[in-house]
Amino acid sequence: MTRTAVLVGCAELPKGDGDEAAVIPALESLGFSVSWAPWDAQFDFAAADAVILRATWDYPSRRAEFLDWCESVPALVNSADVVRWNTDKAYLVELLDAGLPVVPTTVVPPGSAARFPSTEFVVKPSVGAGSRGAARFAAGADAAAHVAALHAEGHPALIQPYQSSVDTDGELALVYFGGIYSHAFAKGAMLRSTMDGSGLYLAEQLAKAEPPADTMALAEDVLDAASALLGILRAELLYARVDVVRGADGRPLPLELELTEPSLGFRQADPSAAMRFASAVRQQLA
Ligand SMILES: Nc1ncnc2c1ncn2[C@@H]1O[C@H](COP(=O)(O)OP(=O)(O)O)[C@@H](O)[C@H]1O
Ligand SMILES: [Mg+2]
Repeated sequence: MTRTAVLVGCAELPKGDGDEAAVIPALESLGFSVSWAPWDAQFDFAAADAVILRATWDYPSRRAEFLDWCESVPALVNSADVVRWNTDKAYLVELLDAGLPVVPTTVVPPGSAARFPSTEFVVKPSVGAGSRGAARFAAGADAAAHVAALHAEGHPALIQPYQSSVDTDGELALVYFGGIYSHAFAKGAMLRSTMDGSGLYLAEQLAKAEPPADTMALAEDVLDAASALLGILRAELLYARVDVVRGADGRPLPLELELTEPSLGFRQADPSAAMRFASAVRQQLA
């Protein structure tokens, strides 16, 4: 029986950035007919058996419209509820409140004044992707103008202490399919690079990586906590990516939990990763 899977991009990247090259033959070998479509295109998404967000990196400026579209797609995996929760980084505060050692995060809603840390810090949009709008400030700097600029776009601003391990060790991205660990990759520091040509995301320096045990264990805790907050089973998450940095004391700290449209690093993974993903898509339909 042929089923249809749609990988979803955006107008600027209608077929993603190339990371899914191995995923398409893997899905086809498991009986899927696969196509790409931009989320805001005229396309019969309702007819597909699985609709999978992959490169919808233009949603931050159109989040309400994007979430309405997500709600309209019956076979969206991850689901619209997951996407709604995950497209506002205020979820980091929920994870902190659940007792997880996340990078300390303060949300500054439009209309309220920000207080800035006395150490080096980052100000970024609560709704953002691809490092857009994220800026790094020296200890004691006044970042009010940047906060105001983010507020002018209609979203809260987030303030976090700058994690300087990002410059030396980078970030580790741990990837899960159907709630089960698949592979990991490393990412260089972003807030000193320049925007790539499309303006949608910063070009990332990626490499294959093997996370240490403490980081693995923490990422598992993050998935458990997020699933509990969402009221779902981990297996209901077709894909998840936990981005971890090291705090000043050397302990791992999640910087992000990506459940919307993360790059999954297939190009950095072992060749079986694409088949694990395809198998997880079948699991979602069962
Ligand atoms: N608190 C922080 N400390 C150090 N670097 C940060 C911090 N927050 C963000 N960055 C840098 O900015 C990049 C983008 O921020 P992130 O929170 O991952 O948002 P997104 O990837 O959704 O744009 C990160 O990959 C990291 O390089
Ligand atoms: Mg990120």
